[in-house]
Amino acid sequence: MLKKIGILTSGGDCAGLNAVVRAATLRATKHYNWEILGIRDGTLGLMKKPVDAIKLSASNFEGNLMRMGGTFLGSNNKGNPFHTVIEDGKKIEVSDIIINGLKSLNLDALIGIGGDGSLKILQKLTKKGKINFIGIPKTIDNDVEHSELSIGYDTAVDVATNALDMLQPTAASHRRVMILEVMGRDAGHIALNSGIAGGADIILIPEIPYKIKSISNHIEKLRSKGRNHALIVVAESVKKENGSKAMVKFVDGQIRLGGIGAYLRDKIYKITDAETRVTVLGHVQRGAQPTHRDRLIASAFGVHAIDLIAQNKFNRVVIWKDRGVHDISLDDVAGYSRKVEKNDPLINVARGLDIYIGEIK
Ligand code: F6P
Repeated sequence: MLKKIGILTSGGDCAGLNAVVRAATLRATKHYNWEILGIRDGTLGLMKKPVDAIKLSASNFEGNLMRMGGTFLGSNNKGNPFHTVIEDGKKIEVSDIIINGLKSLNLDALIGIGGDGSLKILQKLTKKGKINFIGIPKTIDNDVEHSELSIGYDTAVDVATNALDMLQPTAASHRRVMILEVMGRDAGHIALNSGIAGGADIILIPEIPYKIKSISNHIEKLRSKGRNHALIVVAESVKKENGSKAMVKFVDGQIRLGGIGAYLRDKIYKITDAETRVTVLGHVQRGAQPTHRDRLIASAFGVHAIDLIAQNKFNRVVIWKDRGVHDISLDDVAGYSRKVEKNDPLINVARGLDIYIGEIK
């Protein structure tokens, strides 16, 4: 039976989004002969009248789209769709506008590619609108519950590892301490993985408390063994010693994570007298060309999402577990966030490499 599927990317972009839209499109159109619509700019496209969507086909992907970062559909990570707005003099919930937009497309199912925040919003919207939904995890933060990997994460770790590779020679040339501040929101996956892969001496993640004194002791220890430089990776939501998060206020009034690298630089410079510099890696972690691993996961997720719809299985999230693709109830994923666990084997690996990674009480 012919089906009509909608697909959108929601939240912060990352590498591999084009690859997952491609996989879903190829599976839907070539295998099932279904129609698939790409909704532009996440839920923003659904608020347009008519809805901003394009019919997708294999020909959209004949060029190099699958190899490119970003999302050709566009995305949105701002605004709460459950806010009230005034339209034609009437109080109206944005969620109703979005749901009406979805309904106007007469879809059999919607595929939403998003992180923990987006999946929660899409769950609420599709529940309210009684729309069949399948979620696909994407986020460089890798914090989607139950999925060992989210699309975009592997590429972000690769970018951060490359940054450490490039910081090491300049650190050594100038006998400096180099701090690399990486993204990850409240999870330390990027910092932990890139720190080990990139040969960091100190890794700071939000899940494990640290002491400035211990950082300076570690640097002194390296010096006493003849090392003239040190590499530190810090996740953006690591707290200051007083327990507060380093935040930046933007001109539009938004408050976002940022500044822990600079905070540590000043502390370390003062205590160790080592010339210390900080690099804030920022959005280059999101826009790079997807690694082969991100393309593989994206392909597996896209195909599996369409196959779930073919089996009339809805309100599921596809996940990556034990080297394969599976699916799980949306209720078990939406609203949760997967942090680095205290018993993560990589913490032991870091300690085994004599990396300072904070102090687990
Ligand atoms: O959730 C993905 C992410 O890249 C976080 O790691 C980061 O804190 C945030 O988004 C940045 O958001 P924005 O693109 O709005 O600056």
